[in-house]
Amino acid sequence: MDSLMRSLDAVVGPLDRFVAESRAQARPVIRQEPLGALIDELGLERWVREGGLGGEALTAFTERYLHHSTALHSPTYMAHQVSAPNLVGSMAGLLDGVTNNAMSIYEMGPASSAIEFFMVNWMLEKVGWTPAPANPGMAVEGEPCGGGVLTHGGSLANLTALIAARNHAAPEAWDEGAPADLALMAPAGAHYSVSRAAGILGIGRKGVSELEVDVRGAIVADRLPAALARLRDAGKRPFALVANMCSTAVGIYDPLAEVAAFCREAGIWLHVDGAHGAGALLSPRRRSLFEGVQLADSLVWDAHKMMQAPILCAAVLVRDHRTLDRAFQQEASYLFHDKDQPGVDFGRRSFECTKAGLGLRAFMALGALGEEAMGDYVDRQCDLALAAHDLISATAGFECAVRPESCILCFRVEGDDALQISVRNAILADGRFYLSSAMVNGRRWLRIVLLNPAIEIAHIQALVAEVGRKAECLRM
Ligand SMILES: Cc1ncc(COP(=O)(O)O)c(C=O)c1O
Repeated sequence: MDSLMRSLDAVVGPLDRFVAESRAQARPVIRQEPLGALIDELGLERWVREGGLGGEALTAFTERYLHHSTALHSPTYMAHQVSAPNLVGSMAGLLDGVTNNAMSIYEMGPASSAIEFFMVNWMLEKVGWTPAPANPGMAVEGEPCGGGVLTHGGSLANLTALIAARNHAAPEAWDEGAPADLALMAPAGAHYSVSRAAGILGIGRKGVSELEVDVRGAIVADRLPAALARLRDAGKRPFALVANMCSTAVGIYDPLAEVAAFCREAGIWLHVDGAHGAGALLSPRRRSLFEGVQLADSLVWDAHKMMQAPILCAAVLVRDHRTLDRAFQQEASYLFHDKDQPGVDFGRRSFECTKAGLGLRAFMALGALGEEAMGDYVDRQCDLALAAHDLISATAGFECAVRPESCILCFRVEGDDALQISVRNAILADGRFYLSSAMVNGRRWLRIVLLNPAIEIAHIQALVAEVGRKAECLRM
């Protein structure tokens, strides 16, 4: 019989060293070997054929695995929208992996269901929507409460919210397919999962109407009535509008109060994509960005972005729980049938059948810090992006795309688009820093995403100096 203690003993030492060395920058933040060589080096084929991975062999394998893993705990990891996880939060993966309590029906995981229910309600309260009563008998007559479900990531969460929106506008779509006149309104900078969702929903990518934006990529609210009139004149029926809160590339928030008032007036479902930026709801200084959110219909919030939760933990929240309850219909007699149970089956609200106990990931990170400290963390990271903006804008030969509103910053070094890519390639090859890049207003920019509490302005200063040195070498 395998023993948990023996397995833990085998991996804990290497993992602890991995985190400590990452934090101390004593290992490369990124190291990319060719795929085939890596498969060989990890010895995958042998283990699959012969078995025996455990004890000392497991320690050796873990060390090799970590040697080739990206070091998100390093303060020079500034690349993507995945946070350096809170280490208490990381224990959620362990608890979940060992208990393996699947989340589709209450009886499969009462504790993880309770945590999902609690976390959804906590988020609903932060948005300003009515949380669901744990005892359905306590529901307030005539006043629908909010609802939600956790999904494996913001992309699936966006799809789920837009399914609810489509079914709300066209209830027959579930059985008959989507009517040809449906259209979706979204700014060009919406995350690609929105156009994917349109394809999946039968609206088609061409059914996504791009909204006019300003130079920062934010919706120009007073152009919305004209956009709506154009669509209606063309025989289209816009059923939902997506607001970026905030945008993926540059972290800019749409003017939600005006957009929400427009949607309410026009009778259009407002979906708030807060996958990255909803963490601002925790900050008294930044909450005003979400003014008007109470008028929205749905909101997506990724705890694995600005809440230090390990991947993945995304929430789909709706103002009126009935809209989400109607999003999916299924025949699954082995799961859903009349039964006496003291809880709810989240599987009814989710595309996924079996699902991990995702609530633990957000809960344990939040439980370690507390909500006030989590709000302070959001502020710290966004303030750091502002400080980085001021620093880089004042550095000769550099410019920033926009003044940041979140913890994402795009900047470039003097030179063409190809140079930005070459600089990034050279930096990644060195492995001391890890940054990403994005297209903004038709130009290629270097991009940093500050989702690690260990990042200081000195690390960003060092990165900028390195970018300058690499650019100079490449220009020669
Ligand atoms: C605004 C926005 N929505 C959705 C997503 C997708 O989230 P996930 O990567 O969790 O699927 C992202 C980024 O990853 C995003 O920035």
